[in-house]
Amino acid sequence: MIPAIKRAAVEFKEIEKDKTILIISHYDTDGITSAAILAKTLQREDKKFNIRIVKQLERELLDEIKKEFRKEIIFFLDLGSGSLDILKNFSNKIFILDHHECKEEKLPENIKFINPHLFNEETEMSASAIVYLFAKEINKENKDLSNLAVLGMVGDMVERELSRVNSNILKDSDVMVKKGLLLFSATRPISRALEYSSEFFIPGVTGSSSGVTNLLRSIGIDRQKILLDLTEEEISKLVTTIILKTMGQEEKLNIIGNIYLIKFFNRVEDARELSTLINACSRLGYPDVALSLCLGNSKARMKAESIYNTYKHEIVASLNWAEQNEKLQGDNYVIINAKSNIKDTIIGTVTSIIASSFLYKEGTIIVGMAYRGDKIKISIRKSRGNKINLQNLLSNINKVINGEFGGHANAAGCLIDKEKEQTFIDTIKKELETEAIQIKV
Ligand code: C5P
Ligand code: C5P
Repeated sequence: MIPAIKRAAVEFKEIEKDKTILIISHYDTDGITSAAILAKTLQREDKKFNIRIVKQLERELLDEIKKEFRKEIIFFLDLGSGSLDILKNFSNKIFILDHHECKEEKLPENIKFINPHLFNEETEMSASAIVYLFAKEINKENKDLSNLAVLGMVGDMVERELSRVNSNILKDSDVMVKKGLLLFSATRPISRALEYSSEFFIPGVTGSSSGVTNLLRSIGIDRQKILLDLTEEEISKLVTTIILKTMGQEEKLNIIGNIYLIKFFNRVEDARELSTLINACSRLGYPDVALSLCLGNSKARMKAESIYNTYKHEIVASLNWAEQNEKLQGDNYVIINAKSNIKDTIIGTVTSIIASSFLYKEGTIIVGMAYRGDKIKISIRKSRGNKINLQNLLSNINKVINGEFGGHANAAGCLIDKEKEQTFIDTIKKELETEAIQIKV
């Protein structure tokens, strides 16, 4: 993939100086950090550019871009792989730096497409890592943008198993890695980490201040203690208690892992906390704040903290809604049809949290559904130990649901018309039940 990035960088350098560039990027942490890395790079090259942060690359949006931006050079970051058919008809010079699953396709000369899936070698890469490698090809001085690349990796959970390329990016950065309990944030008091834990949903504890107090009192841990400062004995007690509160049985838990510590605005922070802060701003409708934050604007930091508080309450309320309301459950799946009870922009995060909690048995597929106007936003995740490719799953059923879909093996999503609600449920149930039978055979 590196030679292709080098070629793209050479082509980029040949572009006339006065050409305006349009950056279109995805609204989650990976997309925002990708946009920030490219924005800084372009600024340093003295280029004129505009940025658009979007929830999804819908057909209507692409039509609008095609009409409105005829002459611009366009960069698609953290998206685009699922829209090649439409992009083929653009006459602009286009760079797509993306990591979503895709098929190999013959593309016209004006499109430079960089996606690790085309090169078989490093499939688990964040878009921010790809954009960073591109930025470093443009100018070695851009090495200081590696912290943003790591933040994007953490946002997409790529940092859990670091490949060689990702480890090298980590080495470029000044991010510190420490082993610890994967509750977050590791740099804030344990009581807050438990109350707003978005790694695991712990019934009776997540979202409940009194639940947290009771739990900590029962095992004798000071509620103000910072997670990173817990002793081994305290960690062990906490892990045992969390296991008992979730599955109610011994489970092999991946509850201890690497914690990434990043210096941000002169304070050492848990990268997951920052990643969530960025996500919170975007998902509550403030992608501009998220971007300014990544670009180092201290006013944005204050605004982001206040949005983050609202977001945490929203997440916890959504998790509790999901826990307390009826779900469609099969042997290997859970469907949470939240309709208008969970925001369409939050359902993905809620589904991710439930999948990485220990509420359902190993291998369970979690499907979240939430209304978005006359459409339904669907997010699918899987808990550990299931080899199913979720992007392929959606691809298989898309003939019936006719949605706009995409994603990865571990996380995929789609948007369908509301009238397809029942058809989607019936079809995915059938597909997953067949899958369960195949696994048993
Ligand atoms: O569009 P994008 O690839 O950036 O979004 C990835 C989404 O999938 C994020 O919400 C991320 O948290 C989630 N994810 C996950 N498990 C993985 C990889 C990604 O839940 N193993
Ligand atoms: O939206 P959600 O977080 O559930 O998306 C999971 C993954 O699927 C993300 O990587 C997202 O970019 C991708 N996706 C996509 N096309 C869609 C919906 C989601 O590529 N229409």
